[in-house]
Amino acid sequence: MIEIAPSILSADLADFAGGLAIAEEGGADLVHVDVMDGHFVPNLTFGPPVVAALARRTRLPLDVHLMVSNPDRLLDAYLAAGAARVAVHCEAVTHLDRLLSVIREKGARAGVAINPASPVELLADALHLCDFVLLMSVNPGFSGQSFLPYVLDKARRLAARVAERGLATTLELDGGVSIENAETCVRAGIRTLVAGTAVYGASDPRRAIRQLRIAAERGLA
Ligand code: DX5
Ligand code: ZN
Repeated sequence: MIEIAPSILSADLADFAGGLAIAEEGGADLVHVDVMDGHFVPNLTFGPPVVAALARRTRLPLDVHLMVSNPDRLLDAYLAAGAARVAVHCEAVTHLDRLLSVIREKGARAGVAINPASPVELLADALHLCDFVLLMSVNPGFSGQSFLPYVLDKARRLAARVAERGLATTLELDGGVSIENAETCVRAGIRTLVAGTAVYGASDPRRAIRQLRIAAERGLA
C-alpha cells in the first residue's frame, strides 16, 4: 500500500486550514509536519502548540518529523500535541532504543529519520524497534531542494534487510519527491512518499496528490 504525505511546510503558512483541506480533499493518507529547531537544521518552524492546532483541524494522522537536537527534551510535548507518527533523527539521538520505546508507549508509531550521507547500516540492530524509517533524499532544512538519487540505493539495501528479517518496518522518503520519480522510489522499496513542492507548488494541488499516487502505484506492479 502506498501512502502520500503532503508536507504542510510547503503550504501557505498563513492558512493551515486551507493546506489541510487540500490534503484531505486530494485523498492524502498523512500530513507531514517538519519540525525544525534552528540548531540541528538552519531553519525554524513549528512548536508543539502549532502541531496541536493542526491536529484539531484535520482527521488525517500527523506525521511529525523532528529535525531537532536533543529530541528527548521535546518528544513528550509533540506526542501530547497529537502526533500519530514521530521520527527522530539518528544523528541527533544518543539513546535511540529508549526514545523509540517512549514513542510507542505513548501510542504513536515510532520512526527513525536518517540524513542522506548517513549509512542505513547504522540502524541494522534497531530495525525491530522502528515502525518506519524516514530516509532523507535532501539535506534537511528546506523544502524545494533537488532529489539526491544515491539515496535510492540506501532504500534498496534497507528494504532487503527488512524483508530478510521478516519485519513490518516501512520505508518513507522525504525530499524532492515528484510525480517523475515516485515510481522509481517505490521500486526501491519506499511505501510512504512525502511531497512538499510537488503538491503545494502545483497549479492544482489536489490533482497533484492523486497523480503522485497513480505514479507511485506503478512501482508496485
Ligand atoms: C526537508 C523536509 C521535507 C520538505 C519536503 O527538511 O524534511 O519534508 O519539506 O519538501 P519538498 O518535497 O519540496 O522537498
Ligand atoms: Zn520532512
